[in-house]
Amino acid sequence: MSNRNSRFERKVTIVTGGAGGLGQAITAALVEEGARVAIFDTNPDAIDRALDELARPDSVMGAIVDVRSRESVTSGVAEVVAAFGGIDILVAAAGGSLGTPRDIDDIEPEHLDLVIDVNIKGTFNCAQAVVPFMKVRGGGAIVNFSSIGGRSTSPVTGIPYAAAKAGVLGLTRRLAREVGPDGIRVNAIAPGLFLTGRLQGMFDAMADKDRNEVLDSIPLHRMPELRECVEPVLFLASEESSYITGAVLDVNGGRFMAG
Ligand SMILES: NC(=O)c1ccc[n+]([C@@H]2O[C@H](COP(=O)([O-])OP(=O)(O)OC[C@H]3O[C@@H](n4cnc5c(N)ncnc54)[C@H](O)[C@@H]3O)[C@@H](O)[C@H]2O)c1
Repeated sequence: MSNRNSRFERKVTIVTGGAGGLGQAITAALVEEGARVAIFDTNPDAIDRALDELARPDSVMGAIVDVRSRESVTSGVAEVVAAFGGIDILVAAAGGSLGTPRDIDDIEPEHLDLVIDVNIKGTFNCAQAVVPFMKVRGGGAIVNFSSIGGRSTSPVTGIPYAAAKAGVLGLTRRLAREVGPDGIRVNAIAPGLFLTGRLQGMFDAMADKDRNEVLDSIPLHRMPELRECVEPVLFLASEESSYITGAVLDVNGGRFMAG
């Protein structure tokens, strides 16, 4: 078993949405364990802030990549290969409901397109672009982001998000089957509610009664810390999960329990 503090020594990793709440926490943890990480994100200010905070210019690079665009992803991947020499791990965290309305009457075609494009097409584009480089390395690990919203009927997010995050699971399984013979493992993480960015503000602004309703639906009866999503992602990305592929890991304090 590898030393836990250097599980990712010199492993080249792409974290999409790496300037966001979970993505940046994952990036920091990977760098801490020796990885070289490329942040792909559409938000240049957030990328700059993340790079400043991480303060590890030797180990972290940022690229403005829109995962919806195959060209943008392909050129980002080429930049990473030029800088770090190859690709071992992809963490596809770019996604979310992206500020779109939750309720069916309010959903316009462009909302549906945005959520499907970023979460599903984006995840596909990234996988398609990195797989050839992982094959060259003799294997790799891909961790896709689903959600409790794709596993169950979350009251927080709407139909497009539910469909997209359930779609990510189908994509994950089919891809795992296809690239397994090349030594590439593909798994998904399905987090419950983690209070990143504006979600923390929304939660803080809720009435006590509503906050308690959320907590009562979680058997562990507390909100998680970010590291409680980071650790399971690192597990799926590491050799510790070397015989796990096509799986989904629910990280939700027991709010949804798969049968
Ligand atoms: N936070 C939660 O409670 C929670 C729960 C379940 C699943 N998730 C999933 O986890 C992932 C990360 O969530 P988060 O809470 O860190 O969100 P976040 O909004 O903090 O971060 C998402 C990042 O993705 C980037 N992004 C958006 N569109 C993009 C695009 N087209 N190309 C590249 N980057 C793009 C954003 O700029 C942002 O930095 C998402 O896939 C989300 O659906 C989050």
